[in-house]
Amino acid sequence: MRSRWPMDSAAFLLAVVLVSAPVARSWSTEGHMLTCQIAQDLLEPAAADAVKNLLPEEAGGDLSALCVWPDQVRHWYKYKWSSPLHFIDTPDQACSFVYSRDCHDPSGAKDMCVAGAIANFTSQLMHYKHGSADRKYNLTEALLFLSHFMGDVHQPMHVGFTSDQGGNSVNLRWFKHKSNLHHVWDREIILTALAEHYGKDMDAFRKDLEHNISKGAWSDDISSWGDCQDLLSCPTKYATESISLACKWGYSSVHDGDTLSDDYFASRLPIVARRIAQGGVRLAMILNRVFGESNRDVLAWPNLAAATDEL
Ligand SMILES: *[C@@H]1O[C@H](CO)[C@@H](O)[C@H](O)[C@H]1NC(C)=O
Ligand SMILES: *[C@@H]1O[C@H](CO)[C@@H](O)[C@H](O)[C@H]1NC(C)=O
Ligand SMILES: *[C@@H]1O[C@H](CO)[C@@H](O)[C@H](O)[C@H]1NC(C)=O
Repeated sequence: MRSRWPMDSAAFLLAVVLVSAPVARSWSTEGHMLTCQIAQDLLEPAAADAVKNLLPEEAGGDLSALCVWPDQVRHWYKYKWSSPLHFIDTPDQACSFVYSRDCHDPSGAKDMCVAGAIANFTSQLMHYKHGSADRKYNLTEALLFLSHFMGDVHQPMHVGFTSDQGGNSVNLRWFKHKSNLHHVWDREIILTALAEHYGKDMDAFRKDLEHNISKGAWSDDISSWGDCQDLLSCPTKYATESISLACKWGYSSVHDGDTLSDDYFASRLPIVARRIAQGGVRLAMILNRVFGESNRDVLAWPNLAAATDEL
């Protein structure tokens, strides 16, 4: 079990993060924290140790405390290169993701998208086991980027249409206040769920998600969540799922100027909940494989069933 932050420092950190918002185009603080908490709870001992070793002191051993770090630094000069790595722009109305066609930044630089970034930071972390002598990369940053981007790639609207910037320019109302379609999926649905169903208690939301992973609605699906072949086909699969969900549930029947409320919330919350859970479960699978003691077949994901039973 992960050691928990004392409530005060968690609240303080959340406040710091909220003040440094608003950042467009990112699964909310809450979405990222939930994904990272679920992942950390599913780590096997070797991966749990590696994560603790890599986390900076101030995280207190809690990965979720720093899962939003990439959003905080993306506009700093030093990390400007990371800004296009949070999302993928796909051709309008195509409703598909093709790595060779879509994974590039606006200038056309190849691999500069969230799917390429996941492959990049996963392969950097594979050097962890070789010791610290001639490390080319900062593996603390690699861990934080990977954990963050595994959240982003599961947010359906992070793999959206090019001309509306993943729904950012579709302006609408969420119940009574102004918002946009991208933000509805980043944050509004999650915040409304927290307020309506969980008394604004993130732990209660996380426990509900973890219950459905281990014993409830999704426990039969979990093994198929791990189905993919290699470093590039895995994130390609996650991104492909996202753009189909974006088309089917995000964009469908939504127009500029609409007001979205109860019906949209009730029908989309299950999608959002499942994507947060998938992001967490798959992040754990990657970290368990990358840091695992045994030399597992690189093509086979570890069997998750045992880990999820222990939640
Ligand atoms: C991979 O990570 C390095 C920093 O460690 C960065 O310079 C490079 O742009 C990244 N590439 C992708 C595709 O994420
Ligand atoms: C790695 O990155 C972290 C976070 O940016 C930083 O605090 C740390 O000093 C870096 N480590 C090295 C060896 O540069
Ligand atoms: C968990 O599953 C139950 C039963 O299907 C469902 O009512 C509930 O909304 C799910 N919770 C989450 C957070 O997905």
